[in-house]
Amino acid sequence: MTDVLDGVRDHYRATGLTERLKAALMAFGPEDRRLTPEQLGALDQFHTRGLAATTELAKLAGITADMSVLDVGSGVGGPARFLAATYGCRVTGVDLSEPFVDAARYLTERADLSGQVSFQTASALELPFDDGRFDAVLLQHVAMNISDRARLYREIRRVLKTGGRFATYDVVSNGAEPHYPVPWARTPATSFLLTAAATRQAIEPAGFRALAWQDDSEAAKAWIVRLRASGPPPSPNLGVVMGPDFAQLSANLGRNLMEGRIGILTAVFEAA
Ligand SMILES: C[S@@+](CC[C@H](N)C(=O)[O-])C[C@H]1O[C@@H](n2cnc3c(N)ncnc32)[C@H](O)[C@@H]1O
Repeated sequence: MTDVLDGVRDHYRATGLTERLKAALMAFGPEDRRLTPEQLGALDQFHTRGLAATTELAKLAGITADMSVLDVGSGVGGPARFLAATYGCRVTGVDLSEPFVDAARYLTERADLSGQVSFQTASALELPFDDGRFDAVLLQHVAMNISDRARLYREIRRVLKTGGRFATYDVVSNGAEPHYPVPWARTPATSFLLTAAATRQAIEPAGFRALAWQDDSEAAKAWIVRLRASGPPPSPNLGVVMGPDFAQLSANLGRNLMEGRIGILTAVFEAA
């Protein structure tokens, strides 16, 4: 397992990320100007359909101001900041990649949300929290990097209160092998896609009851068509985060979706 985690860390190694983000954000004016989730959206929402997908998932999960939310695999923190800014809730993010956690903290200071949002470097398979600590857990485009799904979903259930919500938004397999490299893995060694049905079979035994279950592949394909029509540079501009090969990773995401090799699943569960 350590080999796999090292491989995932290597994929998201993002050397010098915070400095690159600082340079990219100069376009928004002086460092002391507060940034909004909308301004950061092209850089900090690392999943298909960007901020629109986070907005929909949060609504479906029923996030409210009094909740304590955990974002597992929080990336550079865009979804966590969006939830805090929009709903007024407290959000904790955990991510395997230290450079991503550093960048998430920096962007959160720039958004003036450090009082509500914090980040830790940790594995989703060993969450550093007590049982029943959170009201809701978000998992967006992370499970595809995790081979031990039973353990992942057990850990998420463990840190949730009974009656709490688990909202997942992830890439799923449609049976055919994807073209690599893709945004979550440059080779198949760190990619562990399950079909939508197998994902549900892994989640429910961990102690969850489905509240919402939807196939978002068509919406993702429509987004790819719009991105292709808007031409280079690739938008959203996650090349700043992932490096110069991101255009190729992103092109393969589009190709795999359009060829029906992969799909996009949105689901919300209640902790039983
Ligand atoms: C495609 S990014 C998505 C980031 C974020 N959820 C978002 O939607 O903006 C996948 C993230 O999952 C993290 N990740 C992958 N495997 C992980 C694990 N076992 N534990 C914690 N984080 C993990 C990666 O470091 C990366 O930041």
